[in-house]
Amino acid sequence: MNLAGKVALVTGGAHRVGKAIALALAHAGANIALHYGKSAAAAQKTASEISALGRWVSLHQADLACWSEAVALGHAALAAFGRVDVLVNSASSFVPNDYLSTTEADFDLAFDVNVKGPFVLSQVIARAMMAGEGGTIINIVDEGAFYPWRNYVAHGVSKAALLALTRAQALNLGPKVRVNAVCPGPVLKPPEYSDAQWEALRETNPLRALGTAEQVAETVLFLVAGPQFINGECIVLDGGRMWQR
Ligand SMILES: NC(=O)c1ccc[n+]([C@@H]2O[C@H](COP(=O)([O-])OP(=O)(O)OC[C@H]3O[C@@H](n4cnc5c(N)ncnc54)[C@H](OP(=O)(O)O)[C@@H]3O)[C@@H](O)[C@H]2O)c1
Repeated sequence: MNLAGKVALVTGGAHRVGKAIALALAHAGANIALHYGKSAAAAQKTASEISALGRWVSLHQADLACWSEAVALGHAALAAFGRVDVLVNSASSFVPNDYLSTTEADFDLAFDVNVKGPFVLSQVIARAMMAGEGGTIINIVDEGAFYPWRNYVAHGVSKAALLALTRAQALNLGPKVRVNAVCPGPVLKPPEYSDAQWEALRETNPLRALGTAEQVAETVLFLVAGPQFINGECIVLDGGRMWQR
């Protein structure tokens, strides 16, 4: 796959899954506009790793819960490189909340980071893509979009909205912009999970396996450079876990 000369903006790219996606796109030849929220030091380290691959990298801090900061992020990435060919919305809030005690602030955090941020950032980038050579947007959702989990109600409903946004974007942004989603199952242990909780997900998986951040990145690359007729689709990467319920 050759993305030489292309520019990818990756949100939440300082570490974990977003970092793996940014590095995979850089390995494929893309220059990277790397967004981070609070993890400045980790973002700087990831930027150094991207530079070491011989790619250009620009670093951008923004709180994606804030509409104007997400807009400014889009404009800053476009100003840094003059174009964005690939946008990956990977940043996410993942906060457990008991449904009956979920507050307005809990609800707003999930929807602001997981829906509003990708909504408006994609709007800014899509306008530029449509005025230029076109491009592609990948939204990273998760399985909570397809079936409910106990105590992650605001999160799951916000990811379902992100999946709905993916389909609406695919319908509204063609023919110059394709939009797809990746839906990872368990790939990197959330900090609040115990090792035992995490390992239980392996034991109950149909493949007796967990995914990896690198597999999410591979799937992003497939959606970027694979068959260009794929639009409004979501690839689930969960070892078949979805079908065991
Ligand atoms: N890990 C998994 O097993 C798994 C499973 C299913 C789906 N996913 C999805 O895959 C994506 C990446 O997963 P992950 O585990 O790497 O995610 P994560 O560590 O929970 O979060 C990714 C990044 O989101 C950024 N972020 C959160 N709130 C933000 C805000 N208000 N403004 C700006 N940035 C903000 C953080 O950046 P800073 O650190 O810079 O603040 C964080 O590094 C997410 O969309 C997630 O839902 C992951």
